[in-house]
Amino acid sequence: MKNYSLLILHVMSGNITFTMIKPCAVRSNFTGSILKMINEKGFRIKAMKMTWFTRERAEAFYGIHVGKPFFEDLVSFMSSGPIVAAILEKENAINDFRELIGNTNPAKAADGTIRKLFAESFTANAIHGADSDENAIREGSFFFSEMEQF
Ligand code: RTP
Ligand code: MG
Repeated sequence: MKNYSLLILHVMSGNITFTMIKPCAVRSNFTGSILKMINEKGFRIKAMKMTWFTRERAEAFYGIHVGKPFFEDLVSFMSSGPIVAAILEKENAINDFRELIGNTNPAKAADGTIRKLFAESFTANAIHGADSDENAIREGSFFFSEMEQF
């Protein structure tokens, strides 16, 4: 039984990422176009909701960046309007998703990436993608209970 659980964990690891369509992209009505790109790249939506970060929740979510020079701008921006949060499933999810969204700085994002197409600036860069398996699970649980994941 123990080995079986370990096997399941092994098979599942690396297949989940967490994303947020950021307030700038939701405001500009890019949600549908972005979700279409995500689906066409082969990601399955495990959980999704439109919600609004309070300042306190945004500070908690981005706790890893406390003290950095961009923290205040990041938190103000992320709580400036609704976002669309989602858990996505695909083989090699973390890397494939970060490739799909492109460089953090939209000026450096490759052609065809979500940030190249939809980002306004370094802060208003359209979309978030988790950077590790551990963070994908932590960030997903921040927004979704077990009962909201399918
Ligand atoms: P994200 O978390 O949003 O997917 O972006 P990322 O991994 O590519 O970048 P990260 O280092 O996690 O930073 C989170 C967000 O903070 C803003 N940022 N500004 N001015 C700056 O030096 C700076 N560095 C980061 C960006 O909006 C980034 O998406
Ligand atoms: Mg990040």
